[in-house]
Amino acid sequence: MSKMDAERLDIKKTLSSLTVEEKLRMLTGDGMWHTFGAGELPRVRMSDGPNGLRMTDGNGASAVPSTCFPTQSMLANSWDSALLYDVGAAIGEEATALGVNLLLAPGLNIKRTPFGGRNFEYYSEDPFLSGTLGKAFVSGVQSTGVGTCIKHFAANNCESYRMYSDSVVDERALRELYLRPFELALGAEPAAVMCAYNKLNGTYCSENEYLLKTILRDEWNYSGVTLSDWGAVRDRARSLKAGLDLEMPYSYEVFGEKLRAAFNKGEITEKDVDDALRRIIELVDNVYLEPYGDYDADSHDRLCYNAAVNSAVLLKNENGFLPLTKNMKVVVFGELAVSAPVQGGGSSHVTALKTLSALDAFNLRSVEVKYCRGYSSDPKENVAAYEEALNAAVSADAVIVFAGVVAPTEGVDRHTLSLPPEQENLINGLTNAGHRVVVVLSSAGPVLMPWINRVRSALYSGLNGQAGALAAVDILYGRINPRGRLAETFPIDTDFVDEKNSSRILYRESLFVGYKYYDAIERRTLFPFGHGLSFSDISYDSLSVKRGDDPLTYEATVTLTNNSVRDAYETVQIYVSDRTGRVLRPRKQLAGYFKTFVEGMTTTQVTIRLDRRAFEFWDNDLHAFRACDGEYKIIAASSAEDIKKEVSVKVDGDYRDHTDYPAVYKMPLHGNISDDDFKSLYGGDFPRPRKSPVKGEFTLDCCLDDIKKTLIGKIMVSAIKKRAKSVAPKGSIDHEAFLSFSLYTPLASVVGTSDGEMRANTARGIIEIANGKLFKGIRLLLKKK
Ligand code: BGC
Repeated sequence: MSKMDAERLDIKKTLSSLTVEEKLRMLTGDGMWHTFGAGELPRVRMSDGPNGLRMTDGNGASAVPSTCFPTQSMLANSWDSALLYDVGAAIGEEATALGVNLLLAPGLNIKRTPFGGRNFEYYSEDPFLSGTLGKAFVSGVQSTGVGTCIKHFAANNCESYRMYSDSVVDERALRELYLRPFELALGAEPAAVMCAYNKLNGTYCSENEYLLKTILRDEWNYSGVTLSDWGAVRDRARSLKAGLDLEMPYSYEVFGEKLRAAFNKGEITEKDVDDALRRIIELVDNVYLEPYGDYDADSHDRLCYNAAVNSAVLLKNENGFLPLTKNMKVVVFGELAVSAPVQGGGSSHVTALKTLSALDAFNLRSVEVKYCRGYSSDPKENVAAYEEALNAAVSADAVIVFAGVVAPTEGVDRHTLSLPPEQENLINGLTNAGHRVVVVLSSAGPVLMPWINRVRSALYSGLNGQAGALAAVDILYGRINPRGRLAETFPIDTDFVDEKNSSRILYRESLFVGYKYYDAIERRTLFPFGHGLSFSDISYDSLSVKRGDDPLTYEATVTLTNNSVRDAYETVQIYVSDRTGRVLRPRKQLAGYFKTFVEGMTTTQVTIRLDRRAFEFWDNDLHAFRACDGEYKIIAASSAEDIKKEVSVKVDGDYRDHTDYPAVYKMPLHGNISDDDFKSLYGGDFPRPRKSPVKGEFTLDCCLDDIKKTLIGKIMVSAIKKRAKSVAPKGSIDHEAFLSFSLYTPLASVVGTSDGEMRANTARGIIEIANGKLFKGIRLLLKKK
């Protein structure tokens, strides 16, 4: 859908018609979801999100139901850009129908560790996979005329203390890993880029000129809008100066006065303001449309099913135990068969158009199974549930345990990768009794599986959207030949470099994230990156590599044979391994992939193009990408640990030197990377960790946790804790999310994001009182506006 010339705005004229006050006002949003519409200028309507349209007026779940697609973390298992394009286009269609002009998605952060609380909103641990899928999604959404906003720029990899935490990342890891997905997705020209909450190397991303100007504008030539994550701005004038065009949501109440003062003092100039506004008006011009058209919910549901089928991963299938047949006596265990989460919580949560449990799905496909609860999280009930389960399983041909962990939610990191003990206990009990156990796993990412050797089969069904249960049942019974591949490593244990719950997180592992880490420490994983089984047997017959037309580009051609009668899909992965030894490098890196259909008993060829970046590293001295001169291996694989063919090539690189690195980073890598080791890689002193402010130093940038030792702080914290209990039971993830938002969000951001629940003067009053200025504080609390 493109706009007629007559509908285009005259940007110059619009800008010159605005008063200074209007211009300053336009630098922040209008309410939770709109840009400010000065004069006749329409307001752009924004909405989350990554796995469906979250159409809400306030800050809660969506009020208008929409198709709930698999989460980003699941969609990534499809390794299928065309599918991502289609999902994007479908969400775009739903957005146009509801008058949403800018979709706040996709999330392009790297899954640095499996503990990341928002990993379900991100694609992968690998930057190439994340970026190429993200680009396809952006193209799909924008094909409908709706803009996308890629997020969270940058290095936003954990939730604990998320509004203050500082990601300390060395330049190579930043360029090669954390920025790469953004750089790739910019190829599809997303309408906007959202800055992250956290700091990067000591500076808030909302005020980070290096990110917002040097990299985004000067190097990458990006001309769209930069906008803040909701409540991420700490000082509006400073963020504008650093390159942040639009602050979201409305918070003129907090920053308006200071912004005006900064303007009057010349700290920000009219040119700074106009530059930002030109891009905001251009955004309005490009994406604003009244609600338009309709969409076919049934066809979106079918797409959802297709997406789920492509995203579920068959992890294990001993001796071809799956597929099951309808004449088998099957017992199904687990409450998750009755109701399993299909998405995560927080800003990405949508009200699904449809819900379908696994039991419904068995029914729909006319498969008769016996259901038994099997376990209970209440220890008293669990004893009886367990006994009942073992009795129910007697004489079954197969038992299916629906296992998993609670749905993740924004704001809370995972604390454990283990399944709840009652579930492990059931799986152990059933296998010990000799039953043929199939586990269907619902989780936001990896779980540890000490029982894996004893079960016959395991299917990762993750958070697979409104049609996820049907896809799982169709795989179990062979209606579908499984085809998903893990977009992240499933580790055997949690022995990896990680620092959680800290206000300053040193990314000591540098480039070695995910499969690159396991390659570097030379340890096997539970299930490697890229792993996924089908019911067919595919062999890799040959790999040939030829130089492309441009220097440093190659074409890798793989010949595959499907040795089974059954049609299948295979995801060919091409990794590149730098053998020159000139610089520190991961053992291998994903450089290309393609998911192809292979008809039963036929042979097919797949050609994958590798661009120069497949060979390059970031040279910290030259501040540019360069390629080492020498030998590389091009590897065709069906997972990071299942290498099928290799070919050596000699690359004429422009880097002929040798860079030395701290000994601890030499291969094999050891887990204990000290501060000093990392410092020499980082290339200087680390930024100081945040110091907890004391009485007299409190500002609106402080959170309730900062003032918890003052009297008003104690009162507020205890009120919040009381309220948290009424929001959700203590110990639940929603309870924790509520506490984490309420206690660790700067008060200025609470004002902006609480949708009017806390006013600016209330926040100012609390801070004054905490600083010991009782009367001033009370006066502010009593002020109406
Ligand atoms: C999230 C963003 C989201 C925004 C608006 C924030 O809390 O971090 O991802 O787009 O809210 O809902």
